Amino acid sequence: IGTVVYENSTVASRAIAREIADLINVKQAQKQPCILGLATGSSPKSLYAELVRLHTEEGLSFKNVVAFNLDEYYPMEPDSVNSYVRFMKEQLFNHVDILPENYHVPDGQLSKENISNYCDAYEAKIEAVGGIDLQILGIGGNGHIGFNESGSLQNSKTRLIALDHITRVAASGDFGGLDNTPRTAITLGVKKIMEAKRVILMAWGEGKSNIIKASAEGEVTSRIPASYLQEHNNATFILDVAAASKLT
Ligand code: F6R
Repeated sequence: IGTVVYENSTVASRAIAREIADLINVKQAQKQPCILGLATGSSPKSLYAELVRLHTEEGLSFKNVVAFNLDEYYPMEPDSVNSYVRFMKEQLFNHVDILPENYHVPDGQLSKENISNYCDAYEAKIEAVGGIDLQILGIGGNGHIGFNESGSLQNSKTRLIALDHITRVAASGDFGGLDNTPRTAITLGVKKIMEAKRVILMAWGEGKSNIIKASAEGEVTSRIPASYLQEHNNATFILDVAAASKLT
């Protein structure tokens, strides 16, 4: 797996935004849609801010972008403060010219019995547009990508998943305590992530350094789903100095 290290997350995010902008423009010139897989959480905030800047100041258009987000808590109402729909609108979608029908975030309001069909349809939509051109990922302290927690298989499909305790603890601040933190989420499966033509995993800070080392240099194991990316032919970990500090 490739690793690229920048002085800090701002500079790194600018480089990632540039790669995304270049891809959007290439696809635009080819009159093709640009299919982006997107993440939420704290790591991509600086990336989305830079993409918004490229739109407002440099005329980057998202008219040909089709976006699929990785995950959403379940249950979750789309306008709730912690919803990933709301996050994406506030961080990116509301500030660029992406067409509302072209972005997709897993639905946190389904009834239980409809989830499985919905997840199959989510994957079918990705396939119908030709697959993900560029997948953006963060990484959980336990090595999750999307909400593919420890134990997720490399061929896992989009599905409802029980969140790890450590993931819920990390989110509990946003939810006002562990008791209010969702126990489940809908996540894109590992298989669709691995099928993306290009994958960029971003990680900032000392707190991510151990899991970055394990994911990039340790054994490929279902305990650490991010380690599967070692087997992807075009995946890069883009890191700040602190997150890269344990790499050999
Ligand atoms: C969010 C997602 C998660 C996060 C991960 C890291 O859509 O898929 O895997 O990327 O939990 O979160 P942050 O960036 O908040 O450290």
